[in-house]
Amino acid sequence: MLEQITATRYVTPLREGGSLPGVVEADDLGTYVVKFRGAGQGRRVLVAEIICAELARNLGFATPELKVIDLDPQIGAREPDEEIQDLLTASAGHNLAIDFLPGALGFDTLGREPDPVFASRLLWFDALIHNVDRSWRNPNLLVWHGDVWLIDHGAALWFHHNWPSANPRRAFDGSDHVLAPYATELEAADAELAPRVTRDLLDKVTALVPDEWLADEPGFDDPQAVRDGYVEHLLARARGPRDWLPGTATAAAAGRERQGSIGGFWRATREENR
Ligand SMILES: Nc1ncnc2c1ncn2[C@@H]1O[C@H](COP(=O)(O)OP(=O)(O)OP(=O)(O)O)[C@@H](O)[C@H]1O
Ligand SMILES: [Mg+2]
Repeated sequence: MLEQITATRYVTPLREGGSLPGVVEADDLGTYVVKFRGAGQGRRVLVAEIICAELARNLGFATPELKVIDLDPQIGAREPDEEIQDLLTASAGHNLAIDFLPGALGFDTLGREPDPVFASRLLWFDALIHNVDRSWRNPNLLVWHGDVWLIDHGAALWFHHNWPSANPRRAFDGSDHVLAPYATELEAADAELAPRVTRDLLDKVTALVPDEWLADEPGFDDPQAVRDGYVEHLLARARGPRDWLPGTATAAAAGRERQGSIGGFWRATREENR
C-alpha cells in the first residue's frame, strides 16, 4: 500500500497543469503536488499515475514518491476561485499526492545533448505504457539535483478509458516524443528493460492502487480483476512482438533512413520540417 497522509493546507493551484493540480501541505510536514480525483478524467488518471510511476521507479528512473492523501475540502475554504472550490468539493476523501520537488526546472534539450542511453530507455518506457504526454512542447520531465525526473503519467494507459479497445500490440506514435531524436539505442534499451517487466513486478505495482479507484469498473468483477487486466496487457506488450515499438515499422513505412536507427529517422524528419 502507498503511505496515507492527511492534507492540512491548500497552498496554491498549479495553473500550468491542465488538470489543475494543487500544491498541498500534509500532516507529515511534507509538501505535495496533489492530483485530484474529481478532475476532468477522474480516478483512472490517478491509476495510470501510480502504475506508471512505480513501474518507472522499479526500472531505474527517478520519479517523485507517491502517497494517498485524505482531503477535507474545508482546507481550501479561503481559495477564492470557484473552479478550485468545485474541484476540492468533488475530491473529498482520497487523492494522489506526489512529492513536490522544490526548485525543479523544466527539462529542455537545448541546455545539453541528452544521453542516448537515457533517451532510448525513456522512449522505450513511454512506448510500453502508451504515454502520449512527453512531447517537446510538454515533456513532463523535471531537472532536479542533477537528475531528470519523470512526472505526469496521467495520460498513459489510455486504453483503460475503453477497455474493450485495449490492444497490447498497438503501435506507439513517438514522432512527437521529446527524446526521440536522441533515442539511437532503442534495441539495447529493449533488451535491457523488457525482461525486467515481469509478472511479479506488475503485480507489485498494481497492488499499490487503492481498491476504491478500481471498484465498479465496467466489465470487471472486482478491483483485483482490473489489476490483472493491467498486468496481462503490459506483460503481453513486454513479451510479445515488437510491432508497438517505434522504429522499424515507422521508418520502413516512411521509406527513409536506411541506416536503421530510429533516432536518425526522427532527426532527419525534424530537419526536413524546419
Ligand atoms: N512533483 C513535482 N514537483 C515540482 N513541480 C511539479 C511536480 N509535479 C508537477 N509539477 C509542476 O506542475 C506542472 C503540472 O503538473 P502535471 O504535468 O503533473 O499536471 P497535469 O495537469 O497532468 O498537466 P498537463 O497539462 O501536462 O496534463 C508541471 O509541468 C510542473 O511544472
Ligand atoms: Mg503535465
